[in-house]
Amino acid sequence: MPPPDRPTAGLPTAAYLEALLDRLKRPVRPADGVVRVGLDLGTASVVLTVLASDGAPLALAREEATVVRDGLVLDYAGARQICQRLRKNLEDKLGLRLDRTTIAVPSGTGERDAATHRYVSEAAGLEVEAVLDEPVAANLLLGMADGALADLGGGTTGAAAFKDGRLVMSFDEPTGGRHLSLVIAGNMGVPLEKAEAYKIDPGNARTVGALVAPVLSKMGGILKKGLRDADVKEMWVVGGTALAPGAQAVLARETGFDVFIPPHPDLVTPAGIALGCRPYKAEAL
Ligand SMILES: Nc1ncnc2c1ncn2[C@@H]1O[C@H](COP(=O)(O)OP(=O)(O)OP(=O)(O)O)[C@@H](O)[C@H]1O
Ligand SMILES: [Mg+2]
Repeated sequence: MPPPDRPTAGLPTAAYLEALLDRLKRPVRPADGVVRVGLDLGTASVVLTVLASDGAPLALAREEATVVRDGLVLDYAGARQICQRLRKNLEDKLGLRLDRTTIAVPSGTGERDAATHRYVSEAAGLEVEAVLDEPVAANLLLGMADGALADLGGGTTGAAAFKDGRLVMSFDEPTGGRHLSLVIAGNMGVPLEKAEAYKIDPGNARTVGALVAPVLSKMGGILKKGLRDADVKEMWVVGGTALAPGAQAVLARETGFDVFIPPHPDLVTPAGIALGCRPYKAEAL
């Protein structure tokens, strides 16, 4: 069965994500100066995304970071500096002042923790227009009417179910890509950073696939249990850990759902967050 697909800015989801990745190196300045901006403060990286008013990808900047853990900001000053650098980087590339953004937090994040995300963004010069629920943001891109969405990030596994395009339930569990790396580190007797590099090297896919299968099975079990009352048949999986070798097969087997993983799954939530921003006219620099 082919995955459901709803074009964004005239592009099917896969082509859209390819175009967005391309904007890391080749930013495009919008002729009308109108932008939508999204900031994703993640456990593994911080991503700033700029889209055109119709949602077309314009620019993307990303920095690896360990300033957030399980959706909570651990290093406020470090997070602010990264956000400032990303904003400045894209402002310079686009020649536009970026001063407003949307952000997102994992489902179930308390108000105080969500407020910390907001303070980080605002201290970095990006006024927060809205704080979205992460799976809701991701689904702004995917446009799934009925089904589940799982976001396997660096630190957490978030999931949500949609009915008639509306969020009906969501949850977040502290198991993510870091746990895959921990298992590799333990098995190979190497430090976590080495295990992390080993994990994402395509040349190691066979060994990595075998080592991480039990963790992916556990994530599948968490998803199946969490979504048991949601009456869904299909599940889109996004987030960087969806790139782990064997993820699609293991998750399909464990959950019994039709599982779809788009290309560049780690860009779905960042793009969705920006799609949630109302277009605004950015001042020329
Ligand atoms: N090719 C790959 N194979 C396996 N894992 C990968 C690959 N590429 C990235 N990852 C993992 O994806 C995770 C990062 O994903 P993502 O960018 O979605 O996280 P995040 O949004 O920063 O975290 P979170 O949403 O949990 O706060 C990291 O653990 C990283 O190791
Ligand atoms: Mg994330």
